[in-house]
Amino acid sequence: MISSTPCGVPSTESAAAGPFEGPGAAAPGPAAPRAQRLLYGRRTGPRLRPARKRLLEELLPRLAITLPADGRLEPRTLFPRPVEGVRLEIGFGGGEHLEAQARAHPELGFIGVEPFLAGVARLLAGIAEHGLDNIRILVDDARLLLRALPDRSIRRIDILFPDPWPKARHHKRRIVNPATAAELARILEPGGELRVATDDPGYGRAMLAALLAEPGLAWTAERAADWRTPWPDRPVTRYEAKARAAGRAPLYLRFLARPQPRSGLA
Ligand SMILES: C[S@@+](CC[C@H](N)C(=O)[O-])C[C@H]1O[C@@H](n2cnc3c(N)ncnc32)[C@H](O)[C@@H]1O
Repeated sequence: MISSTPCGVPSTESAAAGPFEGPGAAAPGPAAPRAQRLLYGRRTGPRLRPARKRLLEELLPRLAITLPADGRLEPRTLFPRPVEGVRLEIGFGGGEHLEAQARAHPELGFIGVEPFLAGVARLLAGIAEHGLDNIRILVDDARLLLRALPDRSIRRIDILFPDPWPKARHHKRRIVNPATAAELARILEPGGELRVATDDPGYGRAMLAALLAEPGLAWTAERAADWRTPWPDRPVTRYEAKARAAGRAPLYLRFLARPQPRSGLA
């Protein structure tokens, strides 16, 4: 059964009850800290077309990630064949960017996280149309996945136009913040890449401050053009197109993971 949260009503639930069965293997090693699900905003939209509803009922259970109750989730084990590396997209919306990246890089595995079911259904339609076998999906709060992923297990992370939550009392809902900055740095492979884009200047300043303060990340920008110019190797996302149409100039932030000393080694 697909659970949903009424539009705009905050949902705070225990992390243990993942709603979907699907691939996922708990890796041995240090247990991930216990996490709490924090989802805000809509999870369901207008009534889904029957074909999309069927995809949620029939295809999603085969592609949905089940988070381990404890231990870490080894991301390469999620895919039906060996992959050279794994990339993660947080808040993929309708999944157009994720689908294009997965089609362009069949040698890589892709994890997409999105709690909005209509967006998930749209991505599933693309996966079915193109027969993609390198995308796995978590329909939940990305923070739960971040905490479950092992150190240095992800090659690239994309967070494109995350919800800005402009009111000061809602800033704690923002997905890019000092706590998640540390998790993003922890899960990136050395030299791995983090791409974050926003069209909200206040959120842009806050995310830049949080990411610059994270010692595991190095900002790649050398001049203003580096954060003003869209990355060329991808389609424009839906929210990016809306921002541009409204005359807002997005900020494109690219960070690389610094090599981190291995704990316990001399
Ligand atoms: C403004 S939309 C951007 C969608 C897409 N990336 C784009 O650029 O068109 C932000 C997305 O983040 C998703 N989202 C919100 N909170 C989230 C969370 N905690 N974990 C993962 N995704 C989340 C929302 O459902 C929404 O689809």
